[in-house]
Amino acid sequence: MAEQLTSFEREVPYTQADFNRTRSILYDCAGITLADHKQDMAYNRLVRRLRALKLPTFHAYFSYLERHEGEFSHFINAMTTNLTAFFREKHHFDFLAGQLIPSLAAQGRRSIRGWSAGCSVGEETYSIAIAMKGMTPVSMDDWSIELHATDIDSSVLDTARQGVYSLERVRALPAEVKRQWFLRGIGAQTGKAMVRPELRQLVRFHQLNLMERWDVPSALDFVFCRNVMIYFDNETQSRLLDRMAQVIRPGGYLFVGHSESPYRLTDRFELIGKTIYQRVK
Ligand SMILES: C[S@@+](CC[C@H](N)C(=O)[O-])C[C@H]1O[C@@H](n2cnc3c(N)ncnc32)[C@H](O)[C@@H]1O
Repeated sequence: MAEQLTSFEREVPYTQADFNRTRSILYDCAGITLADHKQDMAYNRLVRRLRALKLPTFHAYFSYLERHEGEFSHFINAMTTNLTAFFREKHHFDFLAGQLIPSLAAQGRRSIRGWSAGCSVGEETYSIAIAMKGMTPVSMDDWSIELHATDIDSSVLDTARQGVYSLERVRALPAEVKRQWFLRGIGAQTGKAMVRPELRQLVRFHQLNLMERWDVPSALDFVFCRNVMIYFDNETQSRLLDRMAQVIRPGGYLFVGHSESPYRLTDRFELIGKTIYQRVK
């Protein structure tokens, strides 16, 4: 394995000014803030673009970026953190299957509408779909299910749409879940697990920057926006939460990551379970 170069041995010089430029572009286009200690990380992610474009310096890269609008998506794809997992923070899926859906059914509802915002490669989204189709005591066969899944990063969305994962990614899932919801890849997909088409067709994946206009329907029953807000400053989070409240129906739910807390940033949600919020205003 290649050894990571330390800050003193970089193949291309990366100055404080280069880092400042990187973070101001990232903040302006994606709302993402990069703390001072992320300098090595920023370098390692961005230097790949310099190599791909055969550019000698970061200064040359930033000029290139200014002149080529299409490079912005490569910049974003390089700079986002896409860490995710199937059934990450499992209690959210238990709540969805065990409480949210049964309570809708008890009200006579036969439809559900949700959004996985910042879905990365789709593992969160397909976990939602599995919770809906395979974990709830309610039979949802005659339900209208609308599941939107979005991310700013176009490359993770390509993976999400394909629904093809390494066996390692699904290893920890119960055998029954794997049997029921995945197919074993053959041919070019040998050694891969493929999400079954009946799950894939429940989801509409599309690119969406949370800092810009949202092309999602309103009156959502729930939104998963987990491990996304941690990258934003308080002001941006507060604005985002207010916008979330506008698309979630009164009484609908917002699921956030374990280290995120809308508390003090908005009065439109109330904590009703572990990192589960309900719209109250
Ligand atoms: C750490 S992943 C979280 C994935 C998933 N929600 C989970 O919790 O497992 C964060 C995702 O947020 C996306 N993201 C970051 N900034 C964004 C923005 N401004 N608009 C939309 N998505 C964004 C990233 O591309 C990344 O895929």
